[in-house]
Amino acid sequence: MRIDILTVLPELLNGPFSASILKRAQDKGLVEIHLHNIRDYSTDRHNNVDDYQYGGGAGMVMSVGPISKAIDSLCAKYRYDEIIYMTPDGDTLAQPLCNQLSLAQNLLILCGHYKGVDQRIRDLYVTKEISIGSYVLSGGELAAAILVDAVVRLIPGVLNDETSALTDSFQDGFLAPPVYTRPPEFKCLKVPEVLLSGNPKDVAAWREAQALERTQLRRPDLLSE
Ligand code: ADE
Repeated sequence: MRIDILTVLPELLNGPFSASILKRAQDKGLVEIHLHNIRDYSTDRHNNVDDYQYGGGAGMVMSVGPISKAIDSLCAKYRYDEIIYMTPDGDTLAQPLCNQLSLAQNLLILCGHYKGVDQRIRDLYVTKEISIGSYVLSGGELAAAILVDAVVRLIPGVLNDETSALTDSFQDGFLAPPVYTRPPEFKCLKVPEVLLSGNPKDVAAWREAQALERTQLRRPDLLSE
């Protein structure tokens, strides 16, 4: 998979992509992540990428010029499955969309700033608008990092057996059951007997029951979907 990210703050994204699973996925050649500074596409003398909003009001708007130039130049080279705009008024990110995006060949992600991008960029280019939750961040970069992490870990070969995504919360519609490791007792709290039993059938049944109970308690909405 190839992921291109358009941003005015590429330095915000270097960190999340240079460690752990995302780094390994790139090292293994399973994903290429390319950061593009929207300022590089500005024709303005001062490399400006934003302007006052028509109709007045506080806050600047990201201009059409540099963003459309950047998208046009990338679209001339790559066929994007989706052109994604990170925005608090988009569809809330959830596991089914991550699963779907993990099958893509090329993704283009646009990070907004200030009051957001000129609506005409959304009308002309964007195929998916994604929010990571009902709160407003300073920009789309951290949201993009979360989206990329959630998608890339699902690409076959990125996770090994130990970190397999198949047993993640949400993947089967349930939250994950509790997990334990050594020691068998800590501050009077014992590991449930069944996990020490060595009986895989009993362990599986216990995990299933725990996952159901946890989901009923914490996320009953998942059970009514
Ligand atoms: N940009 C600012 N806030 C955001 C959010 N909650 N999700 C996605 N992009 C954003």
